[in-house]
Amino acid sequence: MDSVKNIFSLLAAVALLAGCAQEKNKDANQSMKINVTHKKPYKDAATEAKEIYQACASCHAIDGKTQALGKSALLAGQTAQGIEQKIRGYKSGSIDLTGNGPLMKVQVEELTDSQIVAISKYIETLK
Ligand code: HEC
Repeated sequence: MDSVKNIFSLLAAVALLAGCAQEKNKDANQSMKINVTHKKPYKDAATEAKEIYQACASCHAIDGKTQALGKSALLAGQTAQGIEQKIRGYKSGSIDLTGNGPLMKVQVEELTDSQIVAISKYIETLK
């Protein structure tokens, strides 16, 4: 009877270890995905927006105080509403302020509605 019990504890332990290994792999996959897609499941919209903005920062700077490609207006100091309007304009192709509208369209065309709202709020906090 004891040895049957031992086998069960052993099986339980193996199952537990296998479960842990799987969890670890899942984490590794998630962290590898981060630069490739905006669709990683995030804890909350604000964290996600900040993460997405890292890609925008290569042109607009992390503090939003660089003219992208020496042309765009500064993002820092603008209201969430104004930013949101422009992002939607680029996404639909209706805005082209300095001849780089098509370039900005590519940057934002995969953002969902809620991501656009969240990233606009985030940009408003840049000082
Ligand atoms: C490759 C460089 C580059 C990247 C990356 C980039 N932008 Fe831009 N952005 C520009 C340029 C250039 C303009 C000016 C576009 C035009 O001619 O209308 C611009 C314009 C803007 C504007 C309008 C600024 C204004 O008030 O006139 C907003 C808002 C904006 N970008 C947001 C973003 C967001 C959000 C991201 C990331 C999802 C992003 N950009 C990524 C280059 C970039």
